[in-house]
Amino acid sequence: MRILVTGGCGFIGSAFCRYIVEQTDWYVMNLSRSTYSATNVALDSVRNSDRYCFSKGDISDLHCLTHVLRKYSPDAIVHLAGESNVDLISPQKFLESNILGTNILLEATTDYWKSLPNEKKSRFRFILVSTVEVYGAFDYLKKFKEDSPYRPSSFYAASKAASEHLVWACGVGYNLPIIITNCSNNYGPYQSTKKLIPRVITKALKGEKIPVYGKGDNIRNWLHVDDHVKALILLLKFGQPLTKYNIGTSDDLTNLDVVKRICHLLDKLVPDFSFGKREKLIEFVKDRTGHNLRSSVDWSKIHQEMNWSPKESFDSGLEKTVKWYLENERWWQLSIDREFNKSPIMV
Ligand SMILES: NC(=O)c1ccc[n+]([C@@H]2O[C@H](COP(=O)([O-])OP(=O)(O)OC[C@H]3O[C@@H](n4cnc5c(N)ncnc54)[C@H](O)[C@@H]3O)[C@@H](O)[C@H]2O)c1
Repeated sequence: MRILVTGGCGFIGSAFCRYIVEQTDWYVMNLSRSTYSATNVALDSVRNSDRYCFSKGDISDLHCLTHVLRKYSPDAIVHLAGESNVDLISPQKFLESNILGTNILLEATTDYWKSLPNEKKSRFRFILVSTVEVYGAFDYLKKFKEDSPYRPSSFYAASKAASEHLVWACGVGYNLPIIITNCSNNYGPYQSTKKLIPRVITKALKGEKIPVYGKGDNIRNWLHVDDHVKALILLLKFGQPLTKYNIGTSDDLTNLDVVKRICHLLDKLVPDFSFGKREKLIEFVKDRTGHNLRSSVDWSKIHQEMNWSPKESFDSGLEKTVKWYLENERWWQLSIDREFNKSPIMV
């Protein structure tokens, strides 16, 4: 299998590239817009493999995409490139990457796919990685299913919903063999320190205040990035065209619960009595608008059809992640330098 992954320099994309090179005999090409020192390091272990290659490019560049597709001739595309900074207050960047970029990628992919010989054409898959945020907020009794209505409440979620519609329309209208996934909040190694879990770990390690939005009662579903990658691999192998899968876990936790668990873990792993228990560092700050109170997901379809279930419980995945950040201070310092630590925490 030759896989083209867009956005392979990002958090999920780099985990995907590492998995392909380290755990399969497949080939992977990473097409991504930008590389920063922190994300570069995430790909260090695969950079010299003859089954990995990188092409710096933008999914909005039709000429570049056409060239890459012809040259690399992938059997599948996993589309991860996108703007995912949920706190951007203008929709412009979401429109550019998530909607217009996806549209151009689809145009190039459809042309490429039509040119394939029949056998390769029928095996080809295009997977769009979307988010459970497209479903909006939910009540406390049910979880989102694949056919739950789209009710986005942020520009990010609206743009991801729009990209899903474009991808689905390509599948229905032009027979492109597409699959859409809606996954919950990912966490794991090499995640930007702008995101909740790495930010809390690094703040708590430095003995700095840990800001928590509102009362910390927003509930999120947490998925270890390696479990997510394994689900994508299964879909590449067995997923049927024109299908949609939720990917999540049974771990629905309030943000405050997540923050407290990190503090307790660090107290156990790196006791530091200079500032007492790390929970004391928690500071409640004004909440943001447009963020769902609860976001939970029913992933029984992928479980039943693909026999997928997450290997990590939140506690085991969190412990591994905290230990990874403890062992990789040089990496998270790079990530902090890049973000200048001025931006708010993203969940
Ligand atoms: N991280 C999560 O918890 C999560 C949850 C659900 C869905 N997703 C989706 O998964 C995808 C990847 O998420 P992530 O957390 O790895 O994000 P990320 O920001 O770490 O990575 C995104 C990558 O895409 C690249 N990119 C952005 N726009 C591009 C463009 N126009 N052309 C080429 N490359 C471009 C960026 O340079 C970056 O390397 C996103 O589409 C996101 O919506 C993420």
